Amino acid sequence: MVKRIVILGSTGSIGRQTIDVIKRNRNAFDVVGLSAHKNIGLLEEQIRELNPIVVAISNERAAENLRARIERKIEILVGEGGIQELAAMPEGDLVVNALVGSIGLDPTISALKAGKTLALANKESMVVGGEIVTKLAARGETQIIPIDSEHNAIFQCLQGEDVKDVVRIILTGSGGPFRGCKLEDLKDVTVEEALAHPRWKMGPKISIDSATLMNKGLETIEAHFLFGIDYNAIEVIIHPQSIIHSMVEFRDGSIKAHLGQTDMRIPIQYALSHPKRLPSPLPSLDFSEIKELTFEKPDIINFPCLKYALEAGKKGKTFPAVLNAVNEEAVNAFLNRKISFPAILHVIREVLDSHTPLEVRSIGVLKEAENWARQRAKSIIHELT
Ligand SMILES: NC(=O)c1ccc[n+]([C@@H]2O[C@H](COP(=O)([O-])OP(=O)(O)OC[C@H]3O[C@@H](n4cnc5c(N)ncnc54)[C@H](OP(=O)(O)O)[C@@H]3O)[C@@H](O)[C@H]2O)c1
Repeated sequence: MVKRIVILGSTGSIGRQTIDVIKRNRNAFDVVGLSAHKNIGLLEEQIRELNPIVVAISNERAAENLRARIERKIEILVGEGGIQELAAMPEGDLVVNALVGSIGLDPTISALKAGKTLALANKESMVVGGEIVTKLAARGETQIIPIDSEHNAIFQCLQGEDVKDVVRIILTGSGGPFRGCKLEDLKDVTVEEALAHPRWKMGPKISIDSATLMNKGLETIEAHFLFGIDYNAIEVIIHPQSIIHSMVEFRDGSIKAHLGQTDMRIPIQYALSHPKRLPSPLPSLDFSEIKELTFEKPDIINFPCLKYALEAGKKGKTFPAVLNAVNEEAVNAFLNRKISFPAILHVIREVLDSHTPLEVRSIGVLKEAENWARQRAKSIIHELT
């Protein structure tokens, strides 16, 4: 049966790669919904090529612009409510959440409440709302299939296993573009240098998160919620070749690893085709070409964001939501050339240190904590500029 796919954030890096996978497997997948924020030109192209039933965009002006470009009748939803409606649309079977940032949380919740299978790239949904999202997924008939390469790897290692037998999850990471550097050497790095990831070509926000190692921190929190694993049983290890995408150790001493090409279309395709597998156009890994697979501990002295994230995750309550919100603000300020690369860490530390946590009883509490963190972050950034 053809799976009907909704792609939230179809114009981004994951969104575009999802479309590439779908185009190669037209008899397995059909696109019924798309969403974009600013890139109306690309959305127009995608509509012409994929013929979705509904699209969502961020504001009325962009909607008007799109209506003027598209001659055929198509439903255009607007604003955050529009993305949530798209995520729950009755014609969709599987929702790919490829939005960036905590804006992805409400659509994640909408998709799960509507009983959709959720292929989740938007890790911020899990970091901010992990408690609520996992309860929701456990209550319904729904399933979350992670797209993030590490979590997709762990998900694959756990097929046919009992999670009670897991003693350790080993999250691998490349170390980012500044691996081996000292923090004091990073004062003058440019946005372009920070965006130049050695292994993966990704959107700007996750590229900066990879450079600070915050990405591994967010992924640790994501893994904790997705797989129900204690923080003490999740280890981050730097593996610069990015061939092993993550590993799971079981109580009998066996370790399963997931290996593959460094290409997000592999985890995306698996998330779409699960529980089946489809052929890949990528070349097989040539082990005789891989000279070495190396591993080292992450450098949390010069890249303390990983430590900050672990602290926030372990403290729980509203700390992960605050961590994510201040990180989004600080990364944005760096990308807009308002603050230096090391200032990202400073802003995050200051905000976390002044947070009084609350129990996560509702989405409202999370939003309140996020708003507080964003305001606090903006005023610190303002003082720095
Ligand atoms: N890229 C990767 O290789 C990769 C790997 C693992 C995990 N992830 C995760 O996947 C998610 C997406 O990452 P990405 O690299 O694909 O990001 P990206 O290239 O920046 O794309 C983000 C998408 O979200 C849309 N968007 C941005 N702000 C929005 C807003 N305020 N309202 C509605 N839509 C908005 C963008 O629309 P416009 O383009 O139209 O503005 C775009 O379609 C992130 O959570 C990231 O951590 C990414």
